[in-house]
Amino acid sequence: MCGIIGIVSNKPVSINIISSLKRLEYRGYDSAGLATLSKNEINEKKCSGRVEELEKILFKSPSDGNIGIGHVRWATHGIPNVTNAHPHSSEIVSVVHNGIIENSDEIKKDLEKKGKKFKSQTDTEVITLLITEALANHNPLDSVFKTLKKLKGSFAVGILFKNHKDIIIGARRGSPLAVGYSNKENYLGSDSYALKSMTNKISYLDDGDVCILTKDNVEFYDSNKKKINKKVHLLSDDKGISDKGDYKNFMSKEIFEQHVTAKNCIKEYVDNLKEDINIFNFPIKPSNINKITLIGCGTAYHSCLTAKYWFEELTKVDVETDIASEFRYRNLKFNENNLYIFVSQSGETADTAAALDICKKNKVKTCSIVNVVESTIARNSDWVLPIHAGPEIGVASTKAFLGQMIVLFILALKISKSRSEIANDLYIKKIKNLKDLPAKIKETLKVEHNVQLMAKEFLNAKGSMFLGRGSSYPIALEGALKLKELSYLHAEGYPAGEMKHGPLALIEEGLPVIVIAPKDKYFEKTLSNMQEVIARGGKILFITNNLKELINENIRFGLRVPVLDDSLSPILLTIPLQLLAYHVALLKNCDIDKPRNLAKSVTVE
Ligand code: M6R
Repeated sequence: MCGIIGIVSNKPVSINIISSLKRLEYRGYDSAGLATLSKNEINEKKCSGRVEELEKILFKSPSDGNIGIGHVRWATHGIPNVTNAHPHSSEIVSVVHNGIIENSDEIKKDLEKKGKKFKSQTDTEVITLLITEALANHNPLDSVFKTLKKLKGSFAVGILFKNHKDIIIGARRGSPLAVGYSNKENYLGSDSYALKSMTNKISYLDDGDVCILTKDNVEFYDSNKKKINKKVHLLSDDKGISDKGDYKNFMSKEIFEQHVTAKNCIKEYVDNLKEDINIFNFPIKPSNINKITLIGCGTAYHSCLTAKYWFEELTKVDVETDIASEFRYRNLKFNENNLYIFVSQSGETADTAAALDICKKNKVKTCSIVNVVESTIARNSDWVLPIHAGPEIGVASTKAFLGQMIVLFILALKISKSRSEIANDLYIKKIKNLKDLPAKIKETLKVEHNVQLMAKEFLNAKGSMFLGRGSSYPIALEGALKLKELSYLHAEGYPAGEMKHGPLALIEEGLPVIVIAPKDKYFEKTLSNMQEVIARGGKILFITNNLKELINENIRFGLRVPVLDDSLSPILLTIPLQLLAYHVALLKNCDIDKPRNLAKSVTVE
């Protein structure tokens, strides 16, 4: 997954390309590059590492040109270095690419037989060489169509042509691509977010579409080269997106604004006057829902797992969860009375989007729970429930996870009520507790100082385990994922009851084991599992909402979160784990907002 930008203008474009690339860094930050066309020459500049490096290169040696393309890379084919950075240019064509060309090896062999030379290890370069070859006999548009026919995979491209100094061509197959409009300036971007600082007028390419941009005009073609029109969408404001205020990084801002995130989200769904939930227009009448399948990746999948406990607690509907990359290849039996719920912060995750497409092909009803309402997943689903978290910039998801859980809880509650599966007084009580959640989150954030002390226990650790039962199990998984992502320390999340079936072998003297044990129906069982760990020398870091149990000589460190409705405790228990990962990473001097090898939006399979 990479980020693409293209600008055609009547003024120099390199500065705007750089600022768009900075916005796109959430998609990849291994390397960056740009190519502009000036004095009828393609002028390419590339670097390994961040866009900041590219900016320094440009500062020393500016790139002229009123037309250009840029790219941030997250390596798939070939290590992240300057040679493999995009654009990939020949004498006459320059290409930026997001996605994967699955038959690139085959094409490469054919081209090499014809004597063509490759400079990089990327799959992208085959596109450059194929278009270059086609241009000998065709115009740019035909050359692109001819090339596209030879490519297999899921991708989006932006192309610049030396001998056609006014145009950029974009093409989409699988990976998203958007076009933005302005006065005497038009744009190509991996998503609307890349273009938001320059325009709020956007069109989206559909699969197979190709577009030609000049500074005054944009033309769209479908996969059969038939001219088509596109709807222009007006985007909403960014609401202070790129401002991290007094915080050290975006992640800490995003963690510490979670009480506001929760408040904004709850405000959108809970009717204050009627003590009711404002969710209507279900794609399937709730009483007819036969089964709910919750699908996501990474942290979003963990919110699905948490929600499974809520749907099971509050409703009689059968619930299943699946990881999108598994769901998309399973031999599923679709049913028109099943509701398929897709959870994704970005709304652009390739596996989740593909899983959604499969549901659409099977004509079943889909719902998406997203943060980015203009995203592909939101646009492609029958029903959208936004989490209203505001832009999340830190690659490690925090406030979006919280927002996803809140919306899923609200949805479970509403479905239960609509199916008359919850008593009215309990329904009202749950809504009241939900309204108390922002204040409880704020109170929970005060554990930071203790978490800082706890974080020191990880500095010399070989690894760590996170244990929980019931709805604390997905929270253990999420705690382990956060620690891995941010601090590069090995961490395993496990259902506490499973330890004796194998993972107990990992416990040795001093291994940090985080036990998540709210005072719920699993509490005593979790304590027994904890004893098994203590007996083998594990160092217990205990997170609970039960003060009494904190005082135990075998517990190295204890943390307490406030008490609220049992159902909502996973939300509060998440916060110390986010803070823990954050502080371990800080102590280890890791890059908090952009952990190594990751990207915010995973737009490749
Ligand atoms: O944008 P999405 O919610 O679809 O992203 C899914 C995962 O890639 C994402 O949650 C990932 O696991 C995060 N880096 C976790 O912090």
